[in-house]
Amino acid sequence: MEEREAEIYAELRDAGEVCRALGIEALPFRLPERTESSPGGSGGRDEALVRLRSEIGDCRRCKLSAGRRNIVFGEGRADARLMFIGEGPGKDEDIQGRPFVGEAGALLTKLIEKMHFGDKNLMRTDVYIANIVKCRPPMNRDPEEDEIASCRGFIERQIEIIRPEMIVTLGRIALQTLLRRPDIRITAARGNFFEYEGIPVMPTFHPAYLLRNPKDKWLTWSDAQKVMGRLAGHE
Ligand code: URA
Repeated sequence: MEEREAEIYAELRDAGEVCRALGIEALPFRLPERTESSPGGSGGRDEALVRLRSEIGDCRRCKLSAGRRNIVFGEGRADARLMFIGEGPGKDEDIQGRPFVGEAGALLTKLIEKMHFGDKNLMRTDVYIANIVKCRPPMNRDPEEDEIASCRGFIERQIEIIRPEMIVTLGRIALQTLLRRPDIRITAARGNFFEYEGIPVMPTFHPAYLLRNPKDKWLTWSDAQKVMGRLAGHE
């Protein structure tokens, strides 16, 4: 089995190199440079994500599979300190197979790039970004309970593998699902730290909400500042 995993890993690695040669930079995971001293790059987390992705396969576990073009697994550093979790892919994400690449994604990227720890500015590639459900709900409706139930194991495994120091949930669905608190309100929760499996969770507004309500952007910026403060050990 280990041998087969190594083969799969090598195949994915080759595919990654072909993609990069074609100018496709963003893969749903970051493959480490293997060296003698660090055989797994980021402690085997990249390989674990690859294994999880192959376990998901051509998923038909829920009805969202019928209308999707691509499964949007997630992307970023397997050893990210900070993880952002959204609700589910929209149209652009479904087409590209990558999370937060549409208009809301552009706003999220802007937020990430404004964030810094000490004098180091964050880049989108420093964090990990994923969603609660991996397939686009039709007409961008909220994912339904059975769809979330079929998919939630995957985001839980992604968190377990990445072990981020902090999670930012984007919007109501990600917050309620992760904390298993269907009654919690985003307006009351945002700006306050919660916990998931020992990891601090900062809920904030979904970027799509902020596009509709730009006057609330400063609230999300203040939530981001709390995250930066805690990651820098100042809070
Ligand atoms: N909204 C989400 O919740 N996730 C995405 O990936 C894009 C838009």
